[in-house]
Amino acid sequence: MHKNQGPVYYNDYLKLDSFLDCQQPLSRKHADPENPEAHDETLFIVVHQAYELWFKQILHDLNSVMAIFSKPQVADNEFGFIIQRLDRITKIQEMLLSYLGILETMTPMDFLEFRSLLVPASGFQSTQFREIEIKLGLNTNNRESIDREFFMGRLTEKDRDKLAALENIPSLLKLVEAWLERMPFTATNNFNFWEEYKKTITHILKGDADTIHANMANLSEADKKMQLENLRMTQENFDSLFNTEEHHKIVEAGKRKLSQKAMLNALFIALYRDEPMLAMPYQMFSAMMDIDENFTTWRYRHALLAQRMLGSKIGTGGSSGHQYLKKAADNNRVFMDLFNLSTFLVPRSQLPAIPSEVRQKLNFNA
Ligand code: HEM
Repeated sequence: MHKNQGPVYYNDYLKLDSFLDCQQPLSRKHADPENPEAHDETLFIVVHQAYELWFKQILHDLNSVMAIFSKPQVADNEFGFIIQRLDRITKIQEMLLSYLGILETMTPMDFLEFRSLLVPASGFQSTQFREIEIKLGLNTNNRESIDREFFMGRLTEKDRDKLAALENIPSLLKLVEAWLERMPFTATNNFNFWEEYKKTITHILKGDADTIHANMANLSEADKKMQLENLRMTQENFDSLFNTEEHHKIVEAGKRKLSQKAMLNALFIALYRDEPMLAMPYQMFSAMMDIDENFTTWRYRHALLAQRMLGSKIGTGGSSGHQYLKKAADNNRVFMDLFNLSTFLVPRSQLPAIPSEVRQKLNFNA
């Protein structure tokens, strides 16, 4: 704990003289009697600056979580911090979503009063936004090349180099993957969890197949075909979890990100989330899914804002505007593997029993 070192003045502590001098509308600078300052440009600047300030806080928290995961071993007592900070990020995101509503009190015609002064500046150039994306696990190389060229091409060399360097350090997704790969529990001398799980799945899928076959008589040919095809696909999906080659193909196609081992251990956590030792890792997964969901919601909401402001005009950064943003919302998910774990869940009542030696390790045993 730090002790007071002398009187502190509020304005000095927060550096308000310089901070509150940072809102300088370009339309004020270029104002003349025929073109007065555009009233809403101040709102436009304040909202963007507020975003950047909160991005700074998100990065502060994200960096601390990544630092914990970067150690060779994650201490159990650090999970509280991890969850608290990831949760904080989700709260900030929820608030940032509401900022778009404030900005929408500016009408498209008010925006047009100063929009051309901004060209070619654009949200494309928010390096903090990109830093958050990259650190979470959205490497820009995974973007469609045309999109990547768009935003990388609009940055200064210094900013491009900074982002390129960030792409060479492991993201949160990669760090968590490595942690999951190190996780014990699923294989001990007397217990191979996955053999037990496969038996359960075979039993459930057989039940599904029996139900479909029993109802065949009432179905049209097209429905029969569709249902059997769906069943085959579900079976394939399960098989891909255990088939290293298939899993690799899915990762190569960009449909899964986690390694097979990490994916299986993540599934174990999701299935046995009620066990005390796994409750916190599962809370961490929930926070990560919330972050992903909030990010995606923001992207859609921002795409709609752009459409409301611009219709089908191109953006100040030169993209197709609404269309580009909507596609970016569809395509850029970080923790989709955690969402997709639900495909592989089974009812609690059918979970394979854990042998007592494993259960011992998963409980507080107080
Ligand atoms: C009048 C309000 C706004 C409009 C019309 C608008 C429009 C756009 C458009 C059209 C793009 C695509 C790039 C381009 O061609 O310029 C874009 C990108 C972006 N904007 Fe906005 N925007 C607005 C407000 C905001 C706010 C408040 C933020 C908060 C930081 C923001 C952050 C971003 C980011 C991060 C991107 C890059 C997204 C990506 O590449 O996935 N925008 N914006």
